[in-house]
Amino acid sequence: MTEQITIALPKGRILKEAVKLFKKAGIDISIALSEDRSLIYDNPEENLKLMIVRSQDVPTYVEYGAADMGIAGKDVLMEQSLDLYEPLDLGIGYCRMVVAEPANQKEYDDLDSRTQIRVATKYPKITLDHFQRKGIQAEIIKLYGSIEIAPILGLSDRVVDLVETGDTLRENGLVEVEDILEVTSRLICNRASLKTKPKRVKEIVERLSGVVR
Ligand code: PRP
Repeated sequence: MTEQITIALPKGRILKEAVKLFKKAGIDISIALSEDRSLIYDNPEENLKLMIVRSQDVPTYVEYGAADMGIAGKDVLMEQSLDLYEPLDLGIGYCRMVVAEPANQKEYDDLDSRTQIRVATKYPKITLDHFQRKGIQAEIIKLYGSIEIAPILGLSDRVVDLVETGDTLRENGLVEVEDILEVTSRLICNRASLKTKPKRVKEIVERLSGVVR
């Protein structure tokens, strides 16, 4: 019998894409889409254990070895910079991280000439790094969602957030002013699991790498 592998999967939009991708690789994780309230599922045929967690928590479970492998967005991985092995870009969950500001502000206020600005974001570390590289001192306001309303209410000058279709920015009167990062989901792996379960980990990485675009 092969060793059991535990995979941490992110709740939400990415989960459906991940199930499809794994299916192409011949790994059935569709039980993770069951509509009950369970957070852990077993697939005895594949000897897999699947855990469903918040996307921001996936790297933590994998770093501590509570899961051997996981799926995490590049945005989350860069923000947290944990000690993980990242063997594969899965090419799913594509979006971009951008700096945006109110369309009317772009016309009359050149923020790049200012030395201090306020930026609202879910990604304080990436945002701080970005503005530091530009020599701009940014006061970061950490929010947990609905970032786009911060400039409308005068809480910040700009936002750093993810853009997929661009609808949320448009509907809130914001425009992109800078690109920071292209985001896709990555396969991540616990460093100890690489050594303790090398065959199983390698097999999963190889099967998935055969089907990613
Ligand atoms: C994400 C992101 C943007 C929106 C972008 O938010 O933070 O707000 O999606 O998508 P769009 O370009 O297709 O409109 P999410 O839906 O995760 O909710 P949140 O704002 O509460 O984090």
